[in-house]
Amino acid sequence: MTSRRRTETSCSRAGRSSELADASLYSLDQIAEIFNARAPRYAHDDWHRRYAEALVAVTPLAPGDRVIDAATGTGFAARAIAQRVGPDGRIVAVDVSPGMLEQARAAAAAAGLENIDLLCDDATNLPSVESSSIDAVICAAGLLYMPVPTALLEWARVLKPDGVVAFSTMRSGSPASGRIFRDCARKRGWQIPDPSEGLGTPSRCVRMLEETGFDRVQVIPDRVDVERADLTLAWEANVRAAAALVPALDREAQHALREEFLDAMQQEMATDPAGASRVEVLFAIARRTLATLS
Ligand SMILES: C[S@@+](CC[C@H](N)C(=O)[O-])C[C@H]1O[C@@H](n2cnc3c(N)ncnc32)[C@H](O)[C@@H]1O
Repeated sequence: MTSRRRTETSCSRAGRSSELADASLYSLDQIAEIFNARAPRYAHDDWHRRYAEALVAVTPLAPGDRVIDAATGTGFAARAIAQRVGPDGRIVAVDVSPGMLEQARAAAAAAGLENIDLLCDDATNLPSVESSSIDAVICAAGLLYMPVPTALLEWARVLKPDGVVAFSTMRSGSPASGRIFRDCARKRGWQIPDPSEGLGTPSRCVRMLEETGFDRVQVIPDRVDVERADLTLAWEANVRAAAALVPALDREAQHALREEFLDAMQQEMATDPAGASRVEVLFAIARRTLATLS
């Protein structure tokens, strides 16, 4: 297994450029900071594993395939892909957060997997990967952090003609914890966008894929519900992502927001337990067009 670490907190983005009018909510440094902080406890929430494995389960893969796991995080999808492609297959697992990659490295070693190469880099710009050389690009729960057309165009470049792209995303407005956090935050003057808004409907997924070099698009709506709500983890995930987008709250205001969020979540869990744990997701799968890409 190899990895390339460029700096302490984030990885290379050399040569990153895009003429496309697409944008991401966060800078790469902010993403690395958010996920470096979340890394030690990220795998404590079994929901992430189930969500990543569900995407891999619906993605067409064959033994021996060469696959990129874009935004691998702690490597849940990469390890599930390794089971599908077997020892003759190879996975390049890319993430911008060294902290998440450390967890992925340890988990792959513990599982005895030797065909996962870790790459600390921006998954939307992969100059080290040859054009038309990859059988599948999988991105579990990561595309919402990226400039979507830039990412998909780059993945179309590295895929063989007919190669598979597959990504997961949450439906707009899901999950309840995010919606409740944004409602509580709004009362304190924090206007936080729904990160799932851009890709959060089947038609938006189809449009994005068809405009970036893919066809035969399939979008599978599904649910990956939270089994045991860990409110502390839900608070941490929401507040870390929000803090990168809006001016910092002072300690007192943040404490008050935390209490309001936890109260509102407890109330939701008491009055509508099914709704509180429901997470509606979309799995989008497409093939790289057979036409020559310009
Ligand atoms: C919610 S986690 C998902 C991780 C993993 N795929 C999973 O399903 O558990 C999102 C991951 O995307 C990574 N990420 C976001 N933007 C990225 C980019 N442009 N390049 C590489 N990694 C990125 C973050 O560092 C983080 O590890």
